[in-house]
Amino acid sequence: MRDEIIESLDNAEAWVHWGIEQFDKRGIYFGHGTDNALDEAAWLVLFALEMPLDISLSEAPQPLSMAQRRAIFDLFQRRVTTRKPAAYLTHEAWFCGLRFYVDERVLVPRSPIGELIAHRFAPWWPSQQPVNRILDIGTGSGCIAIACAHAFPDAIVDAADISSDALAVTKQNIELHKLGGRVNAVESDLLSALAGRKYEIIVSNPPYVDAEDIASMPEEFHHEPQLGLVAGEDGLDFAIRILQAAPRYLSDDGILIIEVGNSDAALAERLPTVPFMWLEFEHGGHGVFLLTARELVEYHALFLKA
Ligand SMILES: C[S@@+](CC[C@H](N)C(=O)[O-])C[C@H]1O[C@@H](n2cnc3c(N)ncnc32)[C@H](O)[C@@H]1O
Repeated sequence: MRDEIIESLDNAEAWVHWGIEQFDKRGIYFGHGTDNALDEAAWLVLFALEMPLDISLSEAPQPLSMAQRRAIFDLFQRRVTTRKPAAYLTHEAWFCGLRFYVDERVLVPRSPIGELIAHRFAPWWPSQQPVNRILDIGTGSGCIAIACAHAFPDAIVDAADISSDALAVTKQNIELHKLGGRVNAVESDLLSALAGRKYEIIVSNPPYVDAEDIASMPEEFHHEPQLGLVAGEDGLDFAIRILQAAPRYLSDDGILIIEVGNSDAALAERLPTVPFMWLEFEHGGHGVFLLTARELVEYHALFLKA
């Protein structure tokens, strides 16, 4: 069967169509870098052919060599039999137009916060106002911290994570982006190792999946580190701890941005009088809120009781 398929499919487009069929048959889940079968299949074909992802499939060699066809077949097979997200097979992911190394020690980057970084957090952070220090809590691959460092070339960025495994990947990406002088990987349980530091912007995509969602997630998610996903019964364990601690670490005019995804309703229910600013996204995503340092101080007592 394998040999027949490899013999008969001699061009990149044919392989993309075959890949889509395999994904359909196996009920593959998309959402770790692509959101549909066509993009995922094209990604794997171009990767196997060692071609850039922004190139048209029609530019692939034709006919493909037998070695190229075997490489594509084997990559599709690994995707459908292991159910690993494609990024763990290619060890590449994109965030804010930047390339990151990824493996199973870190989540595959996909946070809608990337869109806010691309706009330099405008209009919530005034465009002319300097930024000296930014903190990314739960940095994983370092994608948010590193994208912030690119967006704010004068800022120092701390990239904090509790997992030394994840931080090894963060460091690899800091090196990849040649940002060793400006992005610091810090092992820290949320903010605990950062005493005395002040930031204008604190941003976090912490674990926020609740017990019910964890149980029903497609297999692809179970290849990701559960330390990066699981966050208690209502998904808010980490967000609440950050809300409690953040005021001590933010400058007076600072802002805090946290992603809580589907746990947004639970947060609004738990703290109904707090004026969370729920941000909207052009390219999809939800469950990201912003509070100012002043609001964090004003509602501090409520966060302590939450
Ligand atoms: C949802 S992932 C986000 C990764 C990355 N920021 C991104 O957007 O792709 C959450 C991260 O928080 C880290 N984490 C979990 N518990 C933590 C804690 N108590 N303190 C700091 N980081 C923690 C996990 O190791 C994981 O890397």
